[in-house]
Amino acid sequence: MTKYQTLQAHLRSHRKTWLVTGVAGFIGSNLLEALLKLNQRVVGLDNFATGYQHNIDQALADAGQTPKTEAFHFIEGDICQLGTCQQACQGVDYVLHQAALGSVPRSIEDPINTNRANIDGYLNMLVAARDADVRRFVYAASSSTYGDHPDLPKVEDKIGNPLSPYAVTKVVNELYASVFARSYGFKSIGLRYFNIFGKRQDPNGAYAAVIPKWVAGLLAGEEVFINGDGETSRDFCYIDNTVQMNLLAATTESEEATDQIYNVALNDRTSLNQLFHFIQERLLERRPGLQKAEPTYRAFRAGDVRHSQADIGKAQTLLGYAPSHRIDQGLDEAMDWYVKALG
Ligand SMILES: NC(=O)c1ccc[n+]([C@@H]2O[C@H](COP(=O)([O-])OP(=O)(O)OC[C@H]3O[C@@H](n4cnc5c(N)ncnc54)[C@H](O)[C@@H]3O)[C@@H](O)[C@H]2O)c1
Repeated sequence: MTKYQTLQAHLRSHRKTWLVTGVAGFIGSNLLEALLKLNQRVVGLDNFATGYQHNIDQALADAGQTPKTEAFHFIEGDICQLGTCQQACQGVDYVLHQAALGSVPRSIEDPINTNRANIDGYLNMLVAARDADVRRFVYAASSSTYGDHPDLPKVEDKIGNPLSPYAVTKVVNELYASVFARSYGFKSIGLRYFNIFGKRQDPNGAYAAVIPKWVAGLLAGEEVFINGDGETSRDFCYIDNTVQMNLLAATTESEEATDQIYNVALNDRTSLNQLFHFIQERLLERRPGLQKAEPTYRAFRAGDVRHSQADIGKAQTLLGYAPSHRIDQGLDEAMDWYVKALG
């Protein structure tokens, strides 16, 4: 049995209360579904800035729950209001803080609102969680924190200069987390997500992530763009691995494992050209009538790093992380969902 399987078995018979911020978003709604399947109680907080009620509805349905279940309590509110964060943290054992404005290009166009949600809101959550004396505060950090550091694979303690306002906010989150440990003895865990993908990731809008954007474009027979020459690479990580890391981080009892930052990835590198091929291959299998398409290459995007690949040794050693899905397995599952949802 892996550490995660042991944890899942334990949680099924030990009910705790979890606060998931950003619960109407991609990662938050998947955390909600996974926790409900493990018989946990969840409080969700979201202001629908980029999330949707239908993500919550679907997570409840996929977990076999009705909208009126006593296992889930939703608070519609903004993390920029301290009182809302305090209300949400009441009686909570574990906080999984996902709410933020994602996207590098959004932050370049609108640094003020990104800063507001990602730094002011984050600090409110940290203060509220500390004052509510929760067992653990786990927060979504980001691989963008590596910035211009040239080393590959990325190791947690070697970071460069941030390349976007979004990256600045995620660096500041980590700084606040370590200062809260030093100043108040409030220890948290930051998860530096690499490119996470899976069901319920939003395919729409100017700031959509590459996988859902391409899937939606190909299914609709629209032009699909690659920024740059297509040899830009990323460590794409399936959502189930991300859920696993959140649950392992929240519940670890190891002193050494807390007040730490972890990469959440696979230690794999896939170029955009390879990714395009993987996606198209899977869509053609599921929709044989679909026209085979070629991507359109255009300029590199400001603020993007060229290559990204994570060392995951720290998470494996300190938390017992054992990714359950490689990229191809994740794409198979995600594609089934996208074809159904967008088909
Ligand atoms: N998806 C990725 O690949 C990835 C990579 C690195 C980091 N992250 C981080 O993971 C977290 C979740 O990302 P996601 O991909 O699920 O994005 P998402 O946009 O789907 O979810 C974010 C959720 O937070 C909510 N939110 C935003 N501002 C809020 C506010 N002020 N108050 C309350 N709720 C608010 C949104 O409405 C949304 O439901 C974010 O912190 C993001 O920066 C994601």
